[in-house]
Amino acid sequence: MKRELYLLVAFLVNVHLIREVQSLVEFTNIKCEVVDPEFCNFEYCYLKSVNRTYKYCDLKVNLYKTPVTKVKLNSAIYKFANGYKPFMYNVTVDACKFLKNPKSNPVTGYIHGFFKDFSNMNHSCPYDHDLVVDKLSTQFFNDRVTKILPFPEGKYMVHMNWIAYDTIRAVFKLYLQIL
Ligand SMILES: *[C@@H]1O[C@H](CO)[C@@H](O)[C@H](O)[C@H]1NC(C)=O
Ligand SMILES: *[C@@H]1O[C@H](CO)[C@@H](O)[C@H](O)[C@H]1NC(C)=O
Ligand SMILES: *[C@@H]1O[C@H](CO)[C@@H](O)[C@H](O)[C@H]1NC(C)=O
Repeated sequence: MKRELYLLVAFLVNVHLIREVQSLVEFTNIKCEVVDPEFCNFEYCYLKSVNRTYKYCDLKVNLYKTPVTKVKLNSAIYKFANGYKPFMYNVTVDACKFLKNPKSNPVTGYIHGFFKDFSNMNHSCPYDHDLVVDKLSTQFFNDRVTKILPFPEGKYMVHMNWIAYDTIRAVFKLYLQIL
């Protein structure tokens, strides 16, 4: 917790020293991989470009062993430089505990802020329904990334391991480019 805060502050300071320019986010790809098909499946998972400025990500996860009462999320951000290299933040969060009290973890709160208004995974456990992310748009990312926490330009991947009952059940990867 202390270390996470330190990392976030160090990161913010660094980024502000490097550049204070408006950035632009472009989603380049998403990947949804099922690790345990008996536990869950992706009904759909795609990126859609409506026009040059409006691009979004939609996905739906079917859960086969409901109610799900123990969920952890292991997330990390990678940056491309001769392949994707760990960039920051490889941590595991107990999603059930976190969602009960989102203010308890500011870094996860920041990341959760990207998804919460677009997803029905906005309450704590148990989960007894399919999980949906609906029209998570590049525009929204742009606003948050540039206004709240500017990132240096480059290619990034957000890698998330979805863990239920201490086993990885699905992997989600969002590839994006900051221009
Ligand atoms: C792109 O599509 C969105 C949603 O349909 C629309 O609101 C926006 O005006 C469009 N932008 C351009 C440049 O056509
Ligand atoms: C975090 O690090 C561990 C140990 O190196 C690795 O197994 C795991 O895949 C990483 N998590 C993500 C989301 O990349
Ligand atoms: C959670 O998301 C659902 C579907 O998007 C919405 O109907 C509901 O009001 C949201 N609940 C909270 C607590 O934000």
